[in-house]
Amino acid sequence: MQITDKYSFHGELSVPGDKSISHRSIMFGAISEGLTVVSNFLQGADCLSTISCFQKMGINIENNGKAVRIHGNGLHGLSAPTAVLDVGNSGTTTRLISGILAGQLFESVLDGDESIRKRPMKRIFTPLTQMGAEFESWNPASFPHSMQKTDLGCAPFSVRGGHLHGIHYQSPVASAQVKSAVLLAGLYAEGTTSVTEPVLSRNHTELMLSGFGATVHTAGTTASIEPEPKLQGQNIHVPGDISSAAYFIALGLLTPHSEILIKNVGINPTRSGILKAAWDMGGNLSLLDERTVSGEPVADILVRSSSLHGTVIGGEMIPTLIDEIPIIAVMAAFAEGPTVIRDAQELKVKESDRIAAITENLNAMGALATPADDGMSIEGGKTLHGAQIKTQKDHRIAMAFTVAGLNASGETVLDDESCVSISYPTFYKDILALAD
Ligand code: S3P
Repeated sequence: MQITDKYSFHGELSVPGDKSISHRSIMFGAISEGLTVVSNFLQGADCLSTISCFQKMGINIENNGKAVRIHGNGLHGLSAPTAVLDVGNSGTTTRLISGILAGQLFESVLDGDESIRKRPMKRIFTPLTQMGAEFESWNPASFPHSMQKTDLGCAPFSVRGGHLHGIHYQSPVASAQVKSAVLLAGLYAEGTTSVTEPVLSRNHTELMLSGFGATVHTAGTTASIEPEPKLQGQNIHVPGDISSAAYFIALGLLTPHSEILIKNVGINPTRSGILKAAWDMGGNLSLLDERTVSGEPVADILVRSSSLHGTVIGGEMIPTLIDEIPIIAVMAAFAEGPTVIRDAQELKVKESDRIAAITENLNAMGALATPADDGMSIEGGKTLHGAQIKTQKDHRIAMAFTVAGLNASGETVLDDESCVSISYPTFYKDILALAD
């Protein structure tokens, strides 16, 4: 689409299913007994990577583009993959699947794209090795022709599962991917496995694994799990992804004369920091028809054009909005007064270094954004102009800067629009349907 400020946005939309919940529904369904049926599954490239990895391990998964049917083979029913498991761009696939592979008595090799080959995996190697699995990372330059060991701690890597024993893991990072990997390995371990995080991260694994019949306990920032003889397949309706809704929240708030109703959005409190941030910035948005679907809180979100002001974001709020920081930073650039984002070092190890990607692109549009080691500060109140955006092939940078471009004078051009297919393949179609 042409990215200029000539539109306003009206109407209602349903954003695609939640990425985190879609991944988990495939993984947990694959290791359960019987059928798991998933509706409103996110048909994004990341979740399709998860499907293809389990298909390579012998799981029958039918996907008609709307619902997905997973014929689970039980906790010990995966077969050794005969090819490399291709995780594509997906950190969630890589880290969560490793927790399951740690409990399998075979060896698997995982690899992904250029971005995944840079992302830190020692954070899962460390606890899963303590539990009894073995990891080896390989030199990407010569892989797969010659397998040279490295100490890089990134993909490509191999996992040799073993007889695991439970541990208590004090995680140095608030990461749902680390927590989930350890809890999934805990299903296969002897004794109790628990994880304590510095700050609570998203809890979809705890909620959904309980629904499949696992014994999971949570207290504060600690989650624990007991080894399980079997899990039972479930019917799951995936709520709309609040991380995808975030672009429409920002679009509705920033664009004059706009009103957008976003239907069926998951508002789990471990994910909904974007709502608090938008309210703190003076945004006019309200939650309608709050309800619970498949164990997750859901609401419709009504957004109206607003005059925003700057805010401070940090501490315990960070994991609740970590994926939304690119779009929050865009909102901050259009808001009056300064915004400070701190305690968000994790941004540097996402699909791209998002501290660099956000600040460089905002500055290219005429904002004043200063990077910091753990976040950034944004002056606010500047008039933004169109620019050439370097997305780094990062879906969330592409979508955030599309919204920025729709509110900046002149034309904005992205170097790659196709990366939105990682989490939101219909993003541009959905924007155009609301534009007038
Ligand atoms: C996710 C956890 C978060 C998030 C990612 C999805 C998950 O990553 O950024 O997009 O589904 O568990 P971390 O666990 O690395 O914080």
